[in-house]
Amino acid sequence: MIIKTIKELDAQLAPYRNEGKTIGFVPTMGFLHEGHLSLIRRAKAENDIVVVSDFVNPTQFAPNEDFESYPRDIVRDEELATSAGADFIFHPSVSEIYPEGSSTFVEVEGDITKVLCGESRPSHFKGVTTVVAILFNIVKANKAYFGQKDAQQVAVLLQMVRDLHMNIELVVCPIIREEDGLAMSSRNTYLSDEARKQSVVLNQSLLLAEGVFNNGENSTNKLIKIIADKINEMPLAEIDYVSIYDYPSLKVITKINQQALAAVAVKFGNTRLIDNIILKRI
Ligand code: PAJ
Repeated sequence: MIIKTIKELDAQLAPYRNEGKTIGFVPTMGFLHEGHLSLIRRAKAENDIVVVSDFVNPTQFAPNEDFESYPRDIVRDEELATSAGADFIFHPSVSEIYPEGSSTFVEVEGDITKVLCGESRPSHFKGVTTVVAILFNIVKANKAYFGQKDAQQVAVLLQMVRDLHMNIELVVCPIIREEDGLAMSSRNTYLSDEARKQSVVLNQSLLLAEGVFNNGENSTNKLIKIIADKINEMPLAEIDYVSIYDYPSLKVITKINQQALAAVAVKFGNTRLIDNIILKRI
């Protein structure tokens, strides 16, 4: 069922809350794919009621980014989300979330929001933390579900929940991929046929580095070079970053001890794709 206002969502959820039912929350920007649906299924398996938000959040897009053109299809989304187990699809207007005069932002400071995507998208995470905090206050869920696809987003949100003592548990779910390994993303629809073919290099380069890491290589510089060289084999690929950080602290490291995040952002024309892998010593 699609719900457009906070008042209506409250009215719908009240009886469940009164009965002590648990609520799982899956925040999305819509144009749902298997990645989103995996979060919804997990939420349904772990909660009585599942709320999915479907809201393209303007505050996390810079003026030159794709807020206007971001793909939207609420009819299809409702069908997919419901079949994966969503009970309510919260699809508010921009003014419902940010009414005239709203002027409060939630911002996680420090390197965690400045490195990786924070470098080329300086205001992005401020928009993400603000909307997620607003949505958490509206939905009042027990647990919220996020994808490891956006590894930095997870790290930033964990920090926000900890710092603000928010009473919610974050559940992090694995990256869902196309058959050829490309991480699913609503933005994949922007790719030309040729770029789509070349885009498999993101996953391939990370797997290559994982193999070398598993054979004993600990140097972040060496692993970064292996990833970058592989990506640069694709003529349409333009690297935004290839980085390895401690995870989830996102602190700089030169050697990997236990666990690190290898993350890439690559542009194909105007389409910027991200992917990552956790390198872990077992
Ligand atoms: P969106 O890009 O729509 O993603 C919604 C959720 O789905 C995020 O937690 C994201 O990590 C997860 N997701 C996307 N692709 C995935 C994949 N291939 N495998 C697993 N999970 C995947 O992330 C956002 O929206 C927004 O920033 C949001 C948190 C909703 C705030 O506006």
